[in-house]
Amino acid sequence: MSECKAKTWPGPILTAAQQQLLEDLACHLNNENRLLELAAGFDMQGNYPHAPHCYSRTVLYHHPQGAEIMVARWDAGAVTPVHGHPQYAFVLVLEGRLQMEHFKAAGEELQLTDILVKNAGEHIYAAGEHGRYDNAIHRVTALQPSLSLHIYSDDALKGICYA
Ligand SMILES: [Fe+2]
Repeated sequence: MSECKAKTWPGPILTAAQQQLLEDLACHLNNENRLLELAAGFDMQGNYPHAPHCYSRTVLYHHPQGAEIMVARWDAGAVTPVHGHPQYAFVLVLEGRLQMEHFKAAGEELQLTDILVKNAGEHIYAAGEHGRYDNAIHRVTALQPSLSLHIYSDDALKGICYA
């Protein structure tokens, strides 16, 4: 399946406890272990939109300074563009199985460095350079229908996309 352009949706109304959890997650982006502990309390496996042949992005939280938390629902076979990230990125697979191909920049080219497969309960964490949007370059492919929780230190759509 070829890469797709995901649509972004507003999140549901949150309870005070859910809002607090999201604020705590956004405040601990520099601490992978704390993120994992907090994310274990994430209980919003809700009705996120299905996107045939693609994935949907539902934004649950957006901090005025940029931190963003969203849930992606993936159709099997959905592929993202190759893209970079803001300084911090944490992705936890909630359901299904995601493949992540990681790249490094080598001059004008990108070199594939790693292919990881993450199942439900597994995560990736990347800490890069502040103010850059080409950190942790990867492409994600959903190997199964999947659901994933994403926490970024800035608007994820600022991440650089590579054609
Ligand atoms: Fe990503």
